[in-house]
Amino acid sequence: MVSVLFVCLGNICRSPTAEGIFRQKVIAAGLEDKIHIDSAGTSAYHVGEEPDLRSQAEAKRYGYDLSSIRSRKVTSDDYDKFNLLIAMDQSNLNNLKSFNSNSYSHKLKLFLADFAPQLKISEVPDPYYGGAQGFTQVVKLIEQASDGLIEHLQSKGMI
Ligand code: 4NP
Repeated sequence: MVSVLFVCLGNICRSPTAEGIFRQKVIAAGLEDKIHIDSAGTSAYHVGEEPDLRSQAEAKRYGYDLSSIRSRKVTSDDYDKFNLLIAMDQSNLNNLKSFNSNSYSHKLKLFLADFAPQLKISEVPDPYYGGAQGFTQVVKLIEQASDGLIEHLQSKGMI
């Protein structure tokens, strides 16, 4: 079993979108028994809340259901429990690095840069304070990086 934690700031926009999209792609590939998937935020701003309604609506438009996800903050246990902690942007990767010792650095990844380098955009932009187009971009970027992540796990023999 491989376990993957998607991480953003609030755990209400980008990382729950990544959790929902990646989960659906994993199910479609018949790999759901091999990969444990979760998401969390580096802040506690929205703990307990459902994903932002704009993220839920945009995900639903593309066929992904985020409604059962609830925001939580990253914990120190996550660094042991998960094989990969995948940040949506550099700022949250830096947060993950600062929360814990260097011994976990091999588990910490940047979603687009590490799994969709062909996109030539290394961060999933924070859509929270922007318009609708930002939420569409989040879905599109995450769909591509999710495909790349499945290919990565397969090529490394992790699943
Ligand atoms: P997320 O988006 O990190 O993709 O969940 C944000 C959600 C909330 C805030 C910032 C970003 N906030 O400042 O409350």
